[in-house]
Amino acid sequence: MSALSTKHLIGLKQLEKSDIDLIFKTADNFKEVLNRPIKKVPSLRDITIANMFFEDSTRTRISFELAEKRLSADTINFSSSGSSVKKGETLLDTVRNILAMKVDMIVMRHSSSGAPNFLAQHVPVNIINAGDGTHEHPTQGLLDGYSVLQKFGSLKGLNYLIIGDVKHSRVAGSDIPLMLKMGAKVKVCGPPTLIPKHIEELGVTYEPNLRKALEWCDVANVLRIQLERMDIKFIPSLREYSLSYGVNRALLDSLNKDITIMHPGPINRGVELNSDVADSKQSLVLQQVENGVAIRMAVLYLLAGRN
Ligand code: CP
Repeated sequence: MSALSTKHLIGLKQLEKSDIDLIFKTADNFKEVLNRPIKKVPSLRDITIANMFFEDSTRTRISFELAEKRLSADTINFSSSGSSVKKGETLLDTVRNILAMKVDMIVMRHSSSGAPNFLAQHVPVNIINAGDGTHEHPTQGLLDGYSVLQKFGSLKGLNYLIIGDVKHSRVAGSDIPLMLKMGAKVKVCGPPTLIPKHIEELGVTYEPNLRKALEWCDVANVLRIQLERMDIKFIPSLREYSLSYGVNRALLDSLNKDITIMHPGPINRGVELNSDVADSKQSLVLQQVENGVAIRMAVLYLLAGRN
């Protein structure tokens, strides 16, 4: 198979396993390009892509822009601060005005879950979700899966742990379906208030005790506490959270195994993850960021190829 089964990338829940395999295989080719002295190919030379960020981002925004430039696409960058959104313009009006200037694809981050799906139903171009509310962050899920695949050679049978604020995490929303589709086993760990009700219905298990959860896993993806998405308090304090669920060197050294540690970023150092782990050889954090460019090149290339 050489084409994606979907016109848009809204989430990984809907994506076929064959699509994920194709994205990973295509990313392998682009990783090779990114290791050349001239890190550029003409694949998207006649394509114009709008990166529309209605919410803050460092990694995802820069990674998409770099992926587009490496593919020779023309890019425009929109952020809601400083735009006419502040004057009351609707999302659809904003996007339709940008599309009137002959834009071919939209990469969008939005604080509202469902915003990219809404757009996909109302405009004719490819929509790529760069993170929507608490729903999904599909390219993060893909780069996480790809980074684990690169390290372990296969995801099948791997014990994959997600620690922390699963309830508000769009990364968990994408990692869980990806890991399950690729044959990994998934467990979540965190205070019960930060774990969605009925999580087991997704095919994952829950372990409230961090030590027990770490003893089970091969890979632990540590999530940030997303205070910006909490309208009420879900934990007594960050200090108490850190005492029960913070991942630190002493805890990892007390286990009789070498666990791979991941984090999607941005890290709140000293809260969910200590620097003595984040910056250690066990950490995959910067490889995740590096792989993000090849994964996003693969997604853009394959979606453009369907048009
Ligand atoms: N991982 C991630 O989405 O980071 P940013 O919010 O910086 O894009």
